[in-house]
Amino acid sequence: MKPLLLLLILSWCRWTKADTPANCTFEDVKGEWIFYETERTGDYKINCDNMGQVVHKMNVKLLFPNVAEDQYGNRGTWTMVYNQGFEVKISGRSFFAFSYYEKTGDDVISMCDKTFTGWSRDVTIRNWACYRAQKKESLPPKTYKLMLMANEHSAYKYNKAFIRSINEVQSNWVADVYPEYELMNMMDHLRRAGGRASKIIHGARATQANFVARLRDMSLPQSWDWRNVSGINYVSPVRNQGSCGSCYAFASMAALEARVRILTNNNLQPVFAPQDVVGCSKLSQGCEGGFPFLIAGRYAQDVGVVEEQCSPYEGKDDTCRTDTHCGRHYTAYYRYVGGYYGACNEEEMKLALVKGGPLAVGLEVYDDFLHYKGGIYHHTGLMDKFNPLELTNHAVLLVGYGADEATGEKYWSVKNSWGENWGEGGYFRIRRGTDECAIESLAVEVVPIP
Ligand SMILES: *[C@@H]1O[C@H](CO)[C@@H](O)[C@H](O)[C@H]1NC(C)=O
Ligand SMILES: *[C@@H]1O[C@H](CO)[C@@H](O)[C@H](O)[C@H]1NC(C)=O
Repeated sequence: MKPLLLLLILSWCRWTKADTPANCTFEDVKGEWIFYETERTGDYKINCDNMGQVVHKMNVKLLFPNVAEDQYGNRGTWTMVYNQGFEVKISGRSFFAFSYYEKTGDDVISMCDKTFTGWSRDVTIRNWACYRAQKKESLPPKTYKLMLMANEHSAYKYNKAFIRSINEVQSNWVADVYPEYELMNMMDHLRRAGGRASKIIHGARATQANFVARLRDMSLPQSWDWRNVSGINYVSPVRNQGSCGSCYAFASMAALEARVRILTNNNLQPVFAPQDVVGCSKLSQGCEGGFPFLIAGRYAQDVGVVEEQCSPYEGKDDTCRTDTHCGRHYTAYYRYVGGYYGACNEEEMKLALVKGGPLAVGLEVYDDFLHYKGGIYHHTGLMDKFNPLELTNHAVLLVGYGADEATGEKYWSVKNSWGENWGEGGYFRIRRGTDECAIESLAVEVVPIP
């Protein structure tokens, strides 16, 4: 490889849709940081590919569980953004940057004591600067091997024996064949189930609900479904992401769409454009994956989303083709359910769901999930030996909860983005209360401005 090309890939691969995020933990990031900012004169179009001259310097302590404190003692909040970076809100400004990493061959080296260049802006979103952060205490670099799927290019093979065994070992849910899977290769399946950028996320788990949440939870209805609240449906139609790892964009748009319907009593029913996110957002990895907190949340607040006709879905992330004449729609408020990353659980999710509307949630996808046709899903532990799929983190939309009348088994009702022919009309139900496939660990709530 030519040195210049290598250099370009090393330094700016993120903005050409890198698929290998950093892997930083709360423990890595907690502590004292120096924040560097350029002159605060930009707007949301600011280009922070290069940092530019540092004008502001600020000391910020990031404390347990979500308290940020500057050198004057002013307090704010912070959260990890999955294991990819962290967001800090303090003294009227909001800061976000991805944690730093380098990629050499198959090795990804996370340097969790510094960030890439990111963005800072004031709470009015008028006044922007480029920002990066450096931890005062240095941390040893952490290396992980990029494990590319060996069978990426192999075609998917029909495996009736696998489906039969899923249906034999349990009776809570039914597996079936989807003939269209044979038209896809294993890479398509990997993308459809979350994409490479999502693979590194495992480890998020639900926490115990606190006393107040448990108490408030007791006053909620036994079941809830935003598709039928006293006969009225507030959820937009199911879509199909195809074989681009854009689930996070579909889940994000679906959350905004449903909540606009709820806030306007169904008077406004926009359909928002995942393509604008996949093609244009610097807060995601395009067709290789991304995360709803950064899209339904930060992107929709900072840059805004557009309606489908302004950027019709192509399932490709090569360029940004959004019609610049289109108006943009914004998010007023966003947060991880529970208040910050790592504070999620069943009770907080039910409360946020019933109070505000559908939530974007994460879900670990195993081989058996691909064949879900109906019932209350749980992972059987069975693997498809013909078509082994690596564990990914899919993003979907939580719309309701209930319990099976006959068995009493509790479930969540969830909208997927694999078309209407998949599952129960494009939806699935999944076991509730046991953090099944980490579904109670990563919920995001947003409040759009209708
Ligand atoms: C990411 O970091 C966590 C905690 O240090 C570790 O358990 C996990 O295995 C790492 N992931 C990868 C893919 O190396
Ligand atoms: C909505 O729920 C009510 C009460 O559970 C039920 O009677 C009705 O058939 C449902 N409507 C639709 C469209 O599913």
